[in-house]
Amino acid sequence: MRVLITGITGFAGSHLADLCLEKSDIELFGIIRWRSRTENIEHIWDRLQLLECDLRDANSTRDVVEKISPDYIFHLAAQSFVPTSWNAPSESLSTNILGELNLFEAVRKAGLSCRIQIACSSEEYGLVAEEELPIRESNPFRPLSPYGVSKVGQDMLGYQYYKSYGMEIVRTRGFNHTGPRRGPVFVCSDFARQITEIESGRKKPVMEVGNLEASRDFTDVRDMVRGYWLALEKGRAGEVYNICSGRSYGIQSILDMLIDISGVELEVKQDKSRLRPSDVPRLEGDYSKFAADTGWDPEIPLEKTLSDLLEFWRQNPERGKLI
Ligand code: GDD
Repeated sequence: MRVLITGITGFAGSHLADLCLEKSDIELFGIIRWRSRTENIEHIWDRLQLLECDLRDANSTRDVVEKISPDYIFHLAAQSFVPTSWNAPSESLSTNILGELNLFEAVRKAGLSCRIQIACSSEEYGLVAEEELPIRESNPFRPLSPYGVSKVGQDMLGYQYYKSYGMEIVRTRGFNHTGPRRGPVFVCSDFARQITEIESGRKKPVMEVGNLEASRDFTDVRDMVRGYWLALEKGRAGEVYNICSGRSYGIQSILDMLIDISGVELEVKQDKSRLRPSDVPRLEGDYSKFAADTGWDPEIPLEKTLSDLLEFWRQNPERGKLI
């Protein structure tokens, strides 16, 4: 089977590549932009084929999709950091929505009948009322960031291409996920990196934080990518599935857990530049539809995820310089 991962050099993409390589009879392909960093996939470099392509360029996308002729496509490439979407809203919208559009058009024009997973997001739900928790797939969208809007666009485009052309598209709405290799700007990774810098004396014992009042539903990235695989193996085309743990954690409690695991002593200080124009207050998902169709269940407890993340930063302090 020929499998293509867009965003293979990224956090989830690299873990999905690891998972694919554990399976037999898979020929693994990734697309890569000339300026992409490759640290996350260097350990599997000789076991996959990388082709240069920028999804915002329709011609190069079409050439590459035709050349690979995949059976499965996992579409993970995106501008994925919410604060960047306020600094560069049009870049976020065009990368996320037009990139996906070019991918769909490439598949359609090449006449391929592959299955395509689209990585949508719980940020689409945005503002959720207490009585709507846990969030089901039928909840209204009230996105609170340009990023959330871009993911609504990707989601709806997936629905429309399925309806209009019968393309085998499965949409997953991933809630927050973390673990080793997580980029240093995302909350768990940012806090874990700062703690390991304090542990090693490279930083004064002062933690900079943003809004600790928010709550998020966290899943280990290794469980999340197992979900992506099952979405294509067992999910129904045209459907959309929440992938989440079903539990919401206050960001304050994530910070407390990380400090507890490390045992380090520190002072916590709010950095106003980390606050957002609007922050989704609480996300807690219901994944029963996905479990019913695929048998997926999260397996890795958050304590293990956070302790693996701390260990990742102890082993890879230089990654802190990268975005
Ligand atoms: N990044 C960051 N840094 N977030 C902080 C900080 C900080 O210092 N302090 C508090 N937070 C809060 C944010 O305000 C937010 O409420 C929460 O921690 C999580 O922030 P992120 O880790 O940046 O993730 P996100 O929830 O905005 O978005 C992530 O999850 C989405 C799924 O819901 C990203 O992974 C998205 O790509 C993904 O779609």
